[in-house]
Amino acid sequence: MLMRQRSTHEGSIIFKSHVSMPCVRSKILSPQLKKEDIIQLTESFVEHVQKGDHSVHGWPNTCYGVSKSAVNAYTRILAREVKEEGKGTEKGGQEVLWEEEELAERRILVNSCCPGYCATDMSSWGGTKTAAQGAETPVKLALLPDGSPTGEYWTEGHIVDWTKT
Ligand SMILES: NC(=O)c1ccc[n+]([C@@H]2O[C@H](COP(=O)([O-])OP(=O)(O)OC[C@H]3O[C@@H](n4cnc5c(N)ncnc54)[C@H](OP(=O)(O)O)[C@@H]3O)[C@@H](O)[C@H]2O)c1
Repeated sequence: MLMRQRSTHEGSIIFKSHVSMPCVRSKILSPQLKKEDIIQLTESFVEHVQKGDHSVHGWPNTCYGVSKSAVNAYTRILAREVKEEGKGTEKGGQEVLWEEEELAERRILVNSCCPGYCATDMSSWGGTKTAAQGAETPVKLALLPDGSPTGEYWTEGHIVDWTKT
């Protein structure tokens, strides 16, 4: 995660992410989804993996894919919460975490992105892009001006609808 604070009290949070598996997406696409739901879903995934029946319950065979789906879903939730707080909207008695209040005050943008297939430890140095090339999209997001998109998933410098890929 990268957070950049600017002198004008704006900033960006960027989660480096990856497009996820279809069956996970179907569980987490509800516009009403809350952070607690993501925690519950991912804990359920872990429990099913431990029991060995995650496939039966519709989960894919990838911890990585599930974790990235959760990141993408949380990106949308956090962006929405920040926007709501920024407008001064009451959260219906729901507890507001300190971080979210802080983000709203500072008009933070929240986006996730995929750096592409990069030669790093994670890819055993097999990636086709350098780490510097992979940093291009995150850096672009860190420098987005006020009023730019938030709650989106980006790759190669562009917004991609991860729910349809
Ligand atoms: N490389 C790719 O092709 C690719 C493709 C798509 C998405 N991504 C995503 O991009 C992100 C960065 O990947 P990368 O290729 O740069 O991976 P990387 O070279 O393996 O680096 C991962 C970084 O995360 C840190 N880290 C790992 N576990 C941590 C923990 N529990 N707490 C704090 N820091 C931790 C590591 O710190 P240490 O060095 O101290 O261990 C390291 O700096 C990941 O989210 C990855 O899923 C990468």
